[in-house]
Amino acid sequence: MAAGAPSGDLFASLDDDGGRIDVLAEGAVLFRGLAAGSAPQLMAAIIEIAEAAPFRHMVTPGGHRMSVAMTNCGAAGWVADQRGYRYDARDPESGRPWPAIPEGFYDLAVAVARAAGFGGFTPNVCLINRYEPGARLSLHQDIDERDFAAPIVSVSLGLPATFLFGGLRRADRARRIGLFSGDVAVWGGPARRVFHGIAPLKAGDDPLTGPYRFNLTLRKAF
Ligand code: SIN
Ligand code: FE2
Repeated sequence: MAAGAPSGDLFASLDDDGGRIDVLAEGAVLFRGLAAGSAPQLMAAIIEIAEAAPFRHMVTPGGHRMSVAMTNCGAAGWVADQRGYRYDARDPESGRPWPAIPEGFYDLAVAVARAAGFGGFTPNVCLINRYEPGARLSLHQDIDERDFAAPIVSVSLGLPATFLFGGLRRADRARRIGLFSGDVAVWGGPARRVFHGIAPLKAGDDPLTGPYRFNLTLRKAF
């Protein structure tokens, strides 16, 4: 099956709740509201992870404090510090391994990746982002993973956000796409290294997440 060309039974079963599917680019698919039903369970798992590995504002090598608060679960976690960006098997704040990826995160990511044309996805890390009003993620590529054959699966929870979805060059014009609670985006194959980001979050009050937006990105880091 071609990357980014959803087809077959899983496509039908994932979509039989009437969910909409937007193809953003070759290899990039947005499944509207797919995780809305499991959002409370996903959120409960995030709270549990954050008890072991609290959200923190990392500081980039350039000395910039990130407006997005982050934590991780999985075999390693994405970290930024004075030395650079990397995956670290231990939480630098505690020296302990990151909490395991909850089964619900893993199964969702594998099923959605398959529906987007990326069968056999075996994510081993999950970055968890927490946005407060004004928090943003500037245009970037996800390139700290060892292997670009695996896609990125991204789950939105809570307050809506504007996804900036660019091209393979930083200067490519980025489209602005609304992301709502329960939306799941997948980008891989020819879209694996697209520039993407999140515009400054607008204030709001979400019944599930209050003043925040959360985002899970499941990846295969190594
Ligand atoms: C990311 O690029 O890591 C997160 C994107 C998002 O928050 O939707
Ligand atoms: Fe990213």
